[in-house]
Amino acid sequence: MSNNNLRKVDVIFTPYSVAPYAIMKKVLQRKKDEVIQELIDSGLRGRGGAGFPTGLKWKFASQQKGDLKYVICNADEGEPGTFKDRKLLVEVPRKVISGMAICAWAVGATKGVIYLRREYRYLIPELKEELKLYNEHAKEVGLDFTIDIFLGAGAYICGEETALIESMEGKRGEPRNKPPYPIQEGYLGYPTVVNNVETFASATMVCRIGAGDYKKLGTDDQRGSKLFSISGDSPTT
Ligand SMILES: Cc1cc2nc3c(=O)[nH]c(=O)nc-3n(C[C@H](O)[C@H](O)[C@H](O)COP(=O)(O)O)c2cc1C
Repeated sequence: MSNNNLRKVDVIFTPYSVAPYAIMKKVLQRKKDEVIQELIDSGLRGRGGAGFPTGLKWKFASQQKGDLKYVICNADEGEPGTFKDRKLLVEVPRKVISGMAICAWAVGATKGVIYLRREYRYLIPELKEELKLYNEHAKEVGLDFTIDIFLGAGAYICGEETALIESMEGKRGEPRNKPPYPIQEGYLGYPTVVNNVETFASATMVCRIGAGDYKKLGTDDQRGSKLFSISGDSPTT
């Protein structure tokens, strides 16, 4: 696909030139099942590494019973040389937060956490400002979903979702045996959706352009856009 086509549809870094949180608010007027189905139809797979279909994860989470459910944004980004999630949090935090909120609404979660790599702590002031804005818009539409920030402690393994949850619970960051999966028993034993930063931003993109157009990006078995971090000497130096 040419760059022109990409630009025509959407580019993950492009901030939407609409009112803040307009896409989130529009999605909230739809049926939950329909939105989850759109995510499934889009072919979006998790961007954190394991590639689990995002729509299916949300569907299973929505089927879990319980008074309390969590949505965690995995921003631990410990893979050496990788900085795609940081870039999204800096450039388009609204897309990431909208994705978390849409997920929470669809699965019935009321509490959210951004698990932020400690080395990225300098992003906190701007993220907090953005969360303030999000809170105003969520309140306006009666969405009961609050988001906190949790700082990791610098361990690569804590990017693994169950080790991440252990560390949030104040324990040593070691992976749990699965099953149960986090959507069954996650943070503090409650059903928990853990998705990567890019996955949440992509979910917002799917909701904006629709599964059909999203599927046109990428390849037949890997749908949608994908960010890669490239670093090293430039050819001119
Ligand atoms: C050793 C290890 C490190 C990981 N680190 C990260 C990470 O830094 N960020 C991330 O999103 N997922 C990471 N994962 C994958 C997560 O366990 C999990 O699959 C992911 O957060 C789920 O989100 P997704 O479905 O949106 O990809 C790691 C997995 C392993 C085994």
